[in-house]
Amino acid sequence: MTITNDDDLDGLRAIGRIVATTLQGMARAMEPGMTTRDLDGIGRALLAAEGAQSAPELTYDFPGATCISVNEEIAHGIPGDRVLAAGDLVNIDVSAVKDGFFADTGASFPLGGVSPRILQLCRDGRRAMQVGIAEVGHGRPLSGIGNAIGRFAGKRGYTLIRNLASHGVGRALHEAPEEIATWPNRDRRHIHRGLVLTVEPFLSLGGHMAKNGRDDWTLYAEPRALAVQYEHTVVATDRGAIVVTLPG
Ligand code: CO
Ligand code: CO
Repeated sequence: MTITNDDDLDGLRAIGRIVATTLQGMARAMEPGMTTRDLDGIGRALLAAEGAQSAPELTYDFPGATCISVNEEIAHGIPGDRVLAAGDLVNIDVSAVKDGFFADTGASFPLGGVSPRILQLCRDGRRAMQVGIAEVGHGRPLSGIGNAIGRFAGKRGYTLIRNLASHGVGRALHEAPEEIATWPNRDRRHIHRGLVLTVEPFLSLGGHMAKNGRDDWTLYAEPRALAVQYEHTVVATDRGAIVVTLPG
């Protein structure tokens, strides 16, 4: 959507805060021995308490309130019987709707002790998202996001998953301008004032593409490698981006 007035910005900020606090609440509740279904139940309850509804469930009939992807799973993991263990790398993606406004956020979290390399991957994944967000502003090329992230990743020896794009959001989970690359690209479109979009690069230790595996949802890196994703919903302004998915 394109934000044109303060009421719309307030509505978007409200759902942005809800998905951010839900993500934070789930990350804090996460512990070894818990199933991903248990963790999803915590997310569902947090959303319900705020009067919000899961966007993937509503929009795509996704079998869960949130997407939880562990280790070799990089996105759209279905909450289920999988038991979380110390040393896991867990991605939680929370998107929801309230009063007709949609926001989308996600992050990868190490559970307990992980190797220094994975900790560095997490730190750099968050930085890659910030590098992309810094390219958002009125009149700027949409390609700037992926090109800046590509330079960041390349310099540090990471790969980027090139078929999981960022997207427009706000009145639906996925909407105009549809797919926004977070990898080097030649998109000729420009960002306009008020545009609402996600920035969600997938930074990997060798993966280039996301591929389906056991079910219709869960995605794995090809070639198989760990990946992290950090995602915010942002609004473009004349002076850069406003991040709306903050716990506030
Ligand atoms: Co998301
Ligand atoms: Co998204």
